[in-house]
Amino acid sequence: MSIYEHVGVVGSGTMGRGIAESILRSGARVSLYDTRPAALADARASIERNLAKSVQKGQAEATDAAAWLEALTLVDSPEGLAGPGLVIEAVPEVLQIKLEVLRAIEAVVGPEAVIASNTSSIPITRLAEALERPERFLGLHFFNPVPRMGLAEVITPSSTRVDVTEQVRRFVAEQLAKTPIVVEDRPGFVVNFLLVPYLLSAMRMHEQGYASAEDIDAGMRLGCGHPMGPLQLSDLIGLDVVAHIGDAIHSETGDPAFLVPDGLRRMLEAGCLGKKSGSGFYDYSTTA
Ligand SMILES: NC(=O)c1ccc[n+]([C@@H]2O[C@H](COP(=O)([O-])OP(=O)(O)OC[C@H]3O[C@@H](n4cnc5c(N)ncnc54)[C@H](O)[C@@H]3O)[C@@H](O)[C@H]2O)c1
Repeated sequence: MSIYEHVGVVGSGTMGRGIAESILRSGARVSLYDTRPAALADARASIERNLAKSVQKGQAEATDAAAWLEALTLVDSPEGLAGPGLVIEAVPEVLQIKLEVLRAIEAVVGPEAVIASNTSSIPITRLAEALERPERFLGLHFFNPVPRMGLAEVITPSSTRVDVTEQVRRFVAEQLAKTPIVVEDRPGFVVNFLLVPYLLSAMRMHEQGYASAEDIDAGMRLGCGHPMGPLQLSDLIGLDVVAHIGDAIHSETGDPAFLVPDGLRRMLEAGCLGKKSGSGFYDYSTTA
């Protein structure tokens, strides 16, 4: 069931392309905008590959996959976002870029359109303040890889209209078949507020020599039934991303649980970003 038949996505990087793919799979049209043509071409190729894989595995019909891809339009200017009823921004986590992009979106969309930000750590209220119609703006925080992750946080500052929140909640639940959790605008929302201190705490244990990375991870996998231990999970998320979120929440709250350990800073300086760089708490040079 389509709550939004046409959705705009701004930024076609890791998150934007995943968000676009999930929406295409729901049968809606997507207009995907990025300032870099190469990123758009890459995004389209990656979506096409993922759809082809689903067909190969018997998870999707070839005719559906072809129709979904057909419903993707790549646009090279914000003006291409004039039509959609919902526009989701997934541009880099830099306040100034987000503010400029959100104002540009608001200038072209219709007065009834809803605008959402996929930010991980910038307060939604701060972004809302930049807009003429903050009542039609909220946070919509997806998880990577979007097509496979079944959760989205719907973040509602006090400026968001109740019916807008409800419409977006239904979009996530009914159209994307993901579980929405509705959360007030607070640093880290629900998931990162709980997850990041846990990851940083595991890193401190490792740095202080309590136990090896393998044993810390085995402890949480086998002792708590987690699918992955905290250090392996940090490597997967990206150590730079974990540090960035820790810093952002620490600067908002002053809570020492979000202080980034020195050992993590040293790893980042040495270029160890986790799985994507080939090394982190584990070595991926032979598996990457
Ligand atoms: N990567 C994750 O695991 C993750 C998870 C949840 C949320 N987020 C959030 O999602 C957002 C995007 O993160 P990402 O990892 O996809 O970043 P990314 O760097 O992979 O992609 C960002 C894209 O935005 C494009 N862009 C830059 N400036 C632009 C502009 N002015 N207009 C249009 N496009 C522009 C870039 O060319 C790039 O393709 C961030 O706010 C991040 O915090 C990321």
